Amino acid sequence: MKHILSADQFSKQDLEKILTRAADMENILQKGGSKIAEGKILATLFYEASTRTRLSFETAMYRLGGNIISEADVQFSSQTKGEVLADTIRIVGGYADIIAIRSPNIGDAKLAAQYSPVPILNGGDGPAEHPTQALLDLYTIKKNFSKLGTQKLTVSFVGDLKYGRTVHSLIKLLRHFEGISINFVAPESIQIPEKYIQPNDTLINTLNSDILKNSDIIYDTRIQRERFEDLQDFLNVKDAFIFTPQLVNQMKASAILMHPLPRINEITLEVDTLPQAKYFEQAQNGVPIRMALIAESLGL
Ligand code: NCD
Repeated sequence: MKHILSADQFSKQDLEKILTRAADMENILQKGGSKIAEGKILATLFYEASTRTRLSFETAMYRLGGNIISEADVQFSSQTKGEVLADTIRIVGGYADIIAIRSPNIGDAKLAAQYSPVPILNGGDGPAEHPTQALLDLYTIKKNFSKLGTQKLTVSFVGDLKYGRTVHSLIKLLRHFEGISINFVAPESIQIPEKYIQPNDTLINTLNSDILKNSDIIYDTRIQRERFEDLQDFLNVKDAFIFTPQLVNQMKASAILMHPLPRINEITLEVDTLPQAKYFEQAQNGVPIRMALIAESLGL
């Protein structure tokens, strides 16, 4: 049984295997999907807002020939009656063959795995981790930079690096590859937590021309309003960085601008048609990656 709980769990070999499987899944998708998960059920338990993650998990399961059951609105969940997660998981694990879960609480996916008779896929646990997003991000990077690991690349993370769980998970994956320089670009109050920093990383609080010109990959993020305890702290940083065509045009022609989405105002709509903008392609990669993860976790 293979849970996917944290980006920590993957070796470089695992990553290569998953990326290869995702590329196979992309071919399968082009041929209209597969039936390898026929008769299997994915349960999606989403106790926090989601569009892409839940729907791409569900699309992935349908494209593999499986079915889904979904609890997508916490308002109608027995969680609101006070049911503990352990009980929910034991029960749903008896209905489904695999469970994808998103929760506002750090460590809930790990907790779920302790009680689950079936594989658990972490679709985001509060501000901690989002390993399946990190894998689709890595897949997007690999598709754009096929020499990943043997070529020098500068990756700049921009925005809410404190609460942005996709950043936390992606950094862990990037550490497996040689030749990567990392810049963390954020206001002091939402800078990357200490535990993710390595000696050669650069921390900076302004998005200057050097960052724009030297980056091969800029990974922008939403300021995670829902994680701030004090609204004023959010208001102080909410407009810290806004990517406009004027900024994006300073990037190399070969560079890419990524974002896990949803974007609010941190990338203006005019940027969408520039060649660097890869965030919609990135979101599409969620389907083949999640097909690969479901198939691997189910041993298919
Ligand atoms: C991210 C998340 O939920 O952490 N979204 C996603 O899964 N694509 C990023 C965000 O909400 O800002």
